[in-house]
Amino acid sequence: MQTSIIRSTGSWVPEDVITNEELVASYNSYAERFNADNAAAIAAGEMAEVPLSSAEFIVNASGIERRHVVEKAGILNIDTLVPRIEPRPFEDVAFQAECAMKAVTPALDKAGIAGSEVDGVIVASSAQQRNFPGMACEIQDMIGSTGFSFDLTMACASALYGLHIANGMIKSGQAKRILVCSPEIMTCINVHSRRDVHFIFGDAASAILVESDEGREGGWEVLGTHCQNKYSIALRSDFGFLNEAERTVQPDHEPGLDQDGHKVFKDVVGFAPTVAKSLMQQIDLAPEDVRRTWLHQANIRMVDMIAKRILGRDRTPENAPAILQEYGNTSSSSVVINFEQHSEDMAAGENGVMCAFGAGYGVGAAAVRKR
Ligand code: COA
Repeated sequence: MQTSIIRSTGSWVPEDVITNEELVASYNSYAERFNADNAAAIAAGEMAEVPLSSAEFIVNASGIERRHVVEKAGILNIDTLVPRIEPRPFEDVAFQAECAMKAVTPALDKAGIAGSEVDGVIVASSAQQRNFPGMACEIQDMIGSTGFSFDLTMACASALYGLHIANGMIKSGQAKRILVCSPEIMTCINVHSRRDVHFIFGDAASAILVESDEGREGGWEVLGTHCQNKYSIALRSDFGFLNEAERTVQPDHEPGLDQDGHKVFKDVVGFAPTVAKSLMQQIDLAPEDVRRTWLHQANIRMVDMIAKRILGRDRTPENAPAILQEYGNTSSSSVVINFEQHSEDMAAGENGVMCAFGAGYGVGAAAVRKR
């Protein structure tokens, strides 16, 4: 059995930033216009009023203060409420693949590895811009790798599912070096006209380079990975390849993102720690031997509760750092960016646990030791 090492990570966030105040001002203008335009139907009880949002609610309920986004003006424009993305010329790679490269390039640079030395590329993200060719095929070609590549999706846990597969392949000797990248353009999935969800997501990309131990110093040994699912429809995105076909039957059909936030919160806070703890039991890693846990960033109270359940002690910014105040929920890239931004200070021999959770429900966990 080979030893699997996280050699490097890379990450990228777009420059455009939207504060809660800006987002709420735009949303509320949309809601007020909608309610005025439909005043008669609302008064007759034929249509529900669109409720107003509040920046104070958002920060108190979620901990999110701002988010980085690929295109601010389109999201804040109440006639569109989505980022403006130029359609691509036929021969160009997907916009999302270009976003991924902004995380892949620094990951390869930090590792001192040429793309041609990568055996496999896994794009692990919540959604793919194109069905085929897969984004992983595009990235593989851009970096000059000649091995295998494929896309996988498991919502906000995708990156750790990718790491789980990469770790298994490297341990078993099927590959020497695998790149797992997670370009998450969540503001294109989100529905900015729905009060329950309009503030949740930001955009980002991350990359993890995993390799077999060939005597190089440094990096993080992957002590183990574990993934588990429990089916739920409480968090669901209906965007997909059947949408146009469905509109032939129901022209006003508007697929979107929907969640029962309360239920997701309760279910995931119960489920996610059991998966991380199951991994820790499998590899005989006691909570007191874990210095830090890097958690998926969805809600600061979820971070508090899940950290406490995994670590068996109160959460502190040191033992379970938060980045959601700056980036919002950047889906599966969040756990990798969290790890990247909060791991430099750890000493050789210290252990940490990553845990990501999301729709499905799917939970991924990985335990690592600094070398
Ligand atoms: N602005 C102002 N008020 C709002 C609001 C908004 N944007 N959204 C909801 N409210 C109101 C509700 O109407 C409700 O009012 P009421 O008490 O008078 O009925 C109150 O605030 C509480 O609403 P609720 O939906 O219960 O809030 P919450 O405390 O559950 O917080 C979330 C909402 C979405 C922040 C929280 O449920 C959450 O983070 N859940 C997990 C979701 C998640 O992380 N998904 C991704 C997982 S990877």
